[in-house]
Formats: sequence, structure tokens, C-alpha cells
Amino acid sequence: MNLMDKISEATEFIRNKTKSEPPIGIILGTGLGRLGERIEKETVIDYQQIRHFPVSTVEGHAGRLIFGRLSGKSVVAMQGRFHFYEGYNMEQVTFPVRIMKQLGVKVLIVCNAAGGMNPQFRVGEMVLITDHINFQGQNPLIGPNDERMGPRFPDMYNCYDKDLVDLAERTALDLGYRIMRGVYVAVTGPNLETGAEYRMLRTMGADVVGMSTVPEVIVARHQGMKVLGVSIVTDMGLADNLHPCSHELILAAANKTEPLMTEMIAKVVERMTV
Ligand code: HPA
Repeated sequence: MNLMDKISEATEFIRNKTKSEPPIGIILGTGLGRLGERIEKETVIDYQQIRHFPVSTVEGHAGRLIFGRLSGKSVVAMQGRFHFYEGYNMEQVTFPVRIMKQLGVKVLIVCNAAGGMNPQFRVGEMVLITDHINFQGQNPLIGPNDERMGPRFPDMYNCYDKDLVDLAERTALDLGYRIMRGVYVAVTGPNLETGAEYRMLRTMGADVVGMSTVPEVIVARHQGMKVLGVSIVTDMGLADNLHPCSHELILAAANKTEPLMTEMIAKVVERMTV
């Protein structure tokens, strides 16, 4: 079955459960799933129920689509996302973003946990993604292009919408949080980086590194959606000052910043004009 048919079937299934046409889609990343609790839920659909939808496996990811209201606005949120390192292919990783488009999403908000490589950053801080480097050696747009979804050669100009970055920055400052801006580089994982790799990624021009987000953003841009991306710095990858790290430490740091992130995203959604 081709991708468009899978998208149509999955969308039809969801349409039978909810008539909601949310203009805002949110992908809740590692340890940030509880932002979902802030949403006044109207309809919740487990991924397992949706035809062609992958099912998430990794610890800390729940695996459901939440339709409801956040700050009075209609949203759809993915609680639990799919990572390339889990063995999903790029089509599966980005499938939910294709569905969001069909459901009416115009703005995609993506959150993730990331390693900080800019020495000005601190663990627990939020970073507004201003640009990215796709270093996963893969691309979700490889293969036949369906012009109904987007162009063969999509432009990546203003990939992370400048107005949304400004809005999120102002909002964080209004709430009294320090917030940084930076370039996100996506690697496949699942191992964290060696010192030499952190040094290379930093030299390439990246401020934070993670294992997600870029495929979803490429597909969002392919479909003409605006994107706001926010990372939580969960560990520092400074090549000359490395410390042992673990998934537990990463989750703990993400959980600690989660209330700030929740607060900020809720306010940004309130102030958004979609
Ligand atoms: N590297 C890659 N991915 C990550 C990291 C890291 O240091 N921290 C959180 N996700």
C-alpha cells in the first residue's frame, strides 16, 4: 500500500473518533510527556488502535494521540514519539506528522531532550531551535514524491519560524526563565557521543545534539507547516570536560525542567495567532 493510502485510512479512522480540526500539533519528547496532562482532553486515541500507526516502545513514552484544549486553543498532541534508533523507518517516524497535516495542523511544536555542546548552556535550560543539521544519514522524503503532500525539493528557508522563536523567547523571559537559542544536530543514536564526536558536532556548528526531531521537522516543512522546536539540555557534551551520563540522568533532567517547558508552551499557545 502506498503512503497516501495509509494516510487516508489512518485519518479516516481518527475522523470517526473526533471531528476536531486542531491548528496546532505538539510532539511531546522524552520526559516531557506530562505536558499532555495540561491539555483538557476531548478525545484520546492509543497508537495501537490506529491503522498503520507505529507503536512506541522506549521507556518514558506513553503512545497516544490527545485531542483537546490547551490555553483555550484546539490542539492535538503526540504523547510518545517514534525514533529511528528503535528500528522504525523514516516513513514510520514521520507518519504522525503526515496525519496531523490531514487533521488541519498548521503549526507544529516539537520538544526534545538534547545534549548541550555550547559551553554557555547549562543542564536544565531550554534552547529554542533556530536551525538544524540532519546528521542521521537518512531522509524521510527519499522515495517517490506525492505532489499533493509537498514539492520534490522543499526549501528549508525559515525552517524554524523566526516569529515563533521570537514569541517563545519573549514568553520565556516574561515568565522569568533564561532561554537560549541554538542549532540542533540529529544523530541516530542510540549510544551517546564519544568526546571526539561531540567535538566534531560542535565544530560543525551545532549547539545541541539529539536523536529525534529533524525527520519530523523535514516532513512538517515539506507539507508547509510552521515549526517551533524546543530542546531541554539534559547533559553537557563538552569534549574536554566529559562526565559519565545515562538515560536515567537524561530523564531526570528532562523531568526537572518539564514544569518550565509546560508553562512556556502553554503561554506560547495562548499567544499564538492561528
Ligand atoms: N546526545 C545525543 N542525544 C541526547 C543527548 C546526548 O548527549 N542527551 C539527550 N539526548
